[in-house]
Amino acid sequence: MGNSMQALLDQALAPPREDAVPYLTTKYSKLYLGDAVDTLNRLPAASVDMIFADPPYNLSNGGTTCHAGRRVSVNKASWDTSRGIKGDFAFHMNWIQACWRILKPAGTIWISGTYHSIFSCGYALQLQGWHLLNDITWFKPNAAPNLACRMFTASHETLLWAKKNKNAKHYFDYEAMKFGAWEKDILKKANKQMRSVWAISGPTKEEKRFGKHPTQKPLALLDRIIAAACPPDGVVLDPFCGSGTTGVAALSRGHQFIGIDSERDYLQKMTLPRLVAIEKGVRDGEA
Ligand SMILES: C[S@@+](CC[C@H](N)C(=O)[O-])C[C@H]1O[C@@H](n2cnc3c(N)ncnc32)[C@H](O)[C@@H]1O
Repeated sequence: MGNSMQALLDQALAPPREDAVPYLTTKYSKLYLGDAVDTLNRLPAASVDMIFADPPYNLSNGGTTCHAGRRVSVNKASWDTSRGIKGDFAFHMNWIQACWRILKPAGTIWISGTYHSIFSCGYALQLQGWHLLNDITWFKPNAAPNLACRMFTASHETLLWAKKNKNAKHYFDYEAMKFGAWEKDILKKANKQMRSVWAISGPTKEEKRFGKHPTQKPLALLDRIIAAACPPDGVVLDPFCGSGTTGVAALSRGHQFIGIDSERDYLQKMTLPRLVAIEKGVRDGEA
């Protein structure tokens, strides 16, 4: 193991201080500006019911992709640059380990990613003794075409769902998944069990009305995850909250939300106004 990887892993072993101060608050949410590991280490132990994490995919490598029919750079932002395979793995080990402490014994964690990151995250979960419940394939019916025409068109992401150990009594709203109104999902058959492949399109224009985040997740995806896995009155945490999609879904379903992000603008210009709008009873897309 290289020195830089060891240094990153050591960061997760720093003794927790439980002295985090939110940068912004709303009635039902707390938003922290800073590094995910550092902030998680300052939050109270066993205080969160469900974690959704959409960590950097580390795919900003100078390549190109297709957006709105045009060839554009894949580079998202400096936070998405790879540290190399071992460095990226150490990063994932660190923040996943820090999540363990703050999650309640029956709590669950969700992690999203593509092949650039999801194997690292899955291996970290296994090494740390988490118990994997499912891997969900999130199929994107409106995925961008592949311009090179030398490989298959990327049209899915993977979501890992895990609990702290095999015997933990995790929450799962089976009925809501089976009988809920999921009509927009072309793969879900009414009144049949929810399967592990979900068809959900990217975020709508309305969901981006406070600005564009380069990797914003669709609200419908987070709404389903939270409906499935967060108990009533539970606390949801997102250590890489970006534009605040997880918070919007959590608050809409009557939960409390804790968001962390290292970029001030995302918290101030997107997450905060989206959460305030929800608390005022205005859903994304309404005036
Ligand atoms: C993939 S995006 C999450 C997008 C989010 N799910 C949404 O729907 O808007 C990852 C986020 O992690 C943040 N980030 C990157 N490195 C971080 C770190 N070390 N600690 C906290 N946040 C970080 C970035 O600013 C970015 O907003």
